[in-house]
Amino acid sequence: MSQGIAVVVRGAGIEHDRPMSHEVRAVVSLAQGEPVRVETVLVPDPGPGEALVRVQACGVCHTDLHYRDGGINDQFPFLLGHEAAGIVESVGDGVTDVAAGDFVVLNWRAVCGRCRACLRGRPWYCFVTHNAEQRMTLADGTELSPALGIGAFAEKTLVHAGQCTKVDPGVRPEVAGLLGCGVMAGLGAAINTAPVRRGDSVAVIGCGGVGCAAIAGSRLAGASRIIAVDIDDRKLAAARELGATDTVNSRSRDAVEAIRELTGGNGADVVIDAVGRPETYRQAFHGRDLAGTVVLVGVPTPEMRLEMPLLDFFARGGALKSSWYGDCLPSRDFPMLVDLHLQGRLPLEKFVTDTIALDQVEDAFAAMSRGDVLRSVVVF
Ligand SMILES: NC(=O)c1ccc[n+]([C@@H]2O[C@H](COP(=O)([O-])OP(=O)(O)OC[C@H]3O[C@@H](n4cnc5c(N)ncnc54)[C@H](O)[C@@H]3O)[C@@H](O)[C@H]2O)c1
Ligand SMILES: [Zn+2]
Ligand SMILES: [Zn+2]
Repeated sequence: MSQGIAVVVRGAGIEHDRPMSHEVRAVVSLAQGEPVRVETVLVPDPGPGEALVRVQACGVCHTDLHYRDGGINDQFPFLLGHEAAGIVESVGDGVTDVAAGDFVVLNWRAVCGRCRACLRGRPWYCFVTHNAEQRMTLADGTELSPALGIGAFAEKTLVHAGQCTKVDPGVRPEVAGLLGCGVMAGLGAAINTAPVRRGDSVAVIGCGGVGCAAIAGSRLAGASRIIAVDIDDRKLAAARELGATDTVNSRSRDAVEAIRELTGGNGADVVIDAVGRPETYRQAFHGRDLAGTVVLVGVPTPEMRLEMPLLDFFARGGALKSSWYGDCLPSRDFPMLVDLHLQGRLPLEKFVTDTIALDQVEDAFAAMSRGDVLRSVVVF
């Protein structure tokens, strides 16, 4: 339920009609480490370049938990949620790419067209992504920091119009929304960043939502062998469902030895680290073939350190890459991936372990921490 509130500001004898704001229920993180809460949030009508989106589904990502725990920055209170799909309700002046009624996936890379990456024709690295200028607030006027400039654990959210990517409305919102972050990050780490080529051997370390998406992406790209590594057998079962040809539980087996054994003693052409810890990065580094590629997609924390002989970096050759958001270009990748899904070539529905209500996000964090789910998705 949501309703509009007209706000009239009186001052200097003149009455201005400010745009309407919409009162919605939303998940807010008020203080570091404290359980998140459903609060009333005021969402302004869209100004120039902005879009108001009625959210239909929003996935629970590890990054939301990082925000809650103060791991991203300390700009509390946060409006959480960023893996979302919904219907554009209205747009502000000057918006032409999307209109009311469009079914969209929200993205956190609304390319600016003017930064040095965009000007060099590499917009998937855009450094100056657009976000809405107006702020969403708590009922008392406290401004909220929306997670990744989105904030979609909310019945409605305000974003920059460039953060809305139209896709085929035939896809279920809880499936489409996942492309907005983690699943795109994993798919893109394989198909864009590495990129995995037909016939490559690939190992993926960490098979949560991101790692399993890297496995699905590797299959899509034609990898001949896909080795899934995790410390949890339930995740390895999910990895098999999504295309892993071999699985390694690195609690009971040495990951590097196992990867080498499964690749003729050489190591994999591409190793994707979807955990982002020094020990998994070391496994990725040594688990790849000479001149192979490592892609780091898991996000390390600031205190993590890696010490290795510099000579190893030289001697093993190849490429060490990081992947932000799967080096995706939303306008290119989201519609294409939705089309592949609708054709039965990309089983995105397998990432949705659970659909939940808005007031169950804290429980979903706990389920994620226990490793019970690939993705819990809030549906509205
Ligand atoms: N680069 C990006 O743009 C981007 C985008 C979204 C998320 N991420 C990051 O990707 C990472 C994974 O996200 P997720 O949503 O899949 O998380 P998740 O918690 O669902 O999955 C992590 C997986 O790693 C496994 N794991 C943990 N420690 C391990 C170890 N030592 N060896 C092997 N496996 C281990 C866990 O069992 C689990 O299956 C997070 O760090 C997240 O912040 C990055
Ligand atoms: Zn740019
Ligand atoms: Zn995310």
